Amino acid sequence: MVRIRPAAIADVEAMVGLLKELFTIEGDFEFDAAKHRRALAMMLARPEEAHVWVASQGEQVVGMCSVQCLISTAEGGPVGMVEDLVVAFAMQGRGIGRRLLQAVEDWARVNGLLRLQLLADAANRPALAFYDRCGWSATRLICRRKAQLQWMDKNAI
Ligand SMILES: CC(C)(COP(=O)(O)OP(=O)(O)OC[C@H]1O[C@@H](n2cnc3c(N)ncnc32)[C@H](O)[C@@H]1OP(=O)(O)O)[C@@H](O)C(=O)NCCC(=O)NCCS
Repeated sequence: MVRIRPAAIADVEAMVGLLKELFTIEGDFEFDAAKHRRALAMMLARPEEAHVWVASQGEQVVGMCSVQCLISTAEGGPVGMVEDLVVAFAMQGRGIGRRLLQAVEDWARVNGLLRLQLLADAANRPALAFYDRCGWSATRLICRRKAQLQWMDKNAI
């Protein structure tokens, strides 16, 4: 039986393994175990800002998903950014991804989030089809980013 439950620090290594599967698919990201481990520990330490779920089967972690809170001027209150949704390849197609998203939606409702949003790789057609099936609509927004801001260098000048 697969159970959806809040992640614990003991799940971090298994989650890093799942993120390897995810970041191998998504061309904008590079797998870096140390970075993912650090970020997961930060999320687990800040329950008022972030929440992480795992899907577990016995001792094994077979899926995960996270949400982080932002304040939206458009919505006039808190919204959630969903990330890190991945189900182990061998366990895909059994409703686990849908259940993970449902857990996020239930948590968002209880915690007063006014909207949930996520980013997906435009080339990840299976994931886009999955989100369609789960009732997540597409928007006209696209993502831009400026990575690796050099704060330290600037301050040193
Ligand atoms: C995308 C992913 C999370 C979906 O999880 P999953 O457990 O395989 O999906 P589910 O079994 O819960 O499917 C839920 C619904 O989506 C549909 N669906 C899932 N994958 C699909 C696909 N490739 N094409 C079309 N529909 C799909 C299912 O048929 C199901 O529909 P239904 O309940 O109406 O019958 C999973 O495949 C995965 O981890 N992929 C690799 C990582 C990834 O791409 N993550 C998303 C990053 S944005």
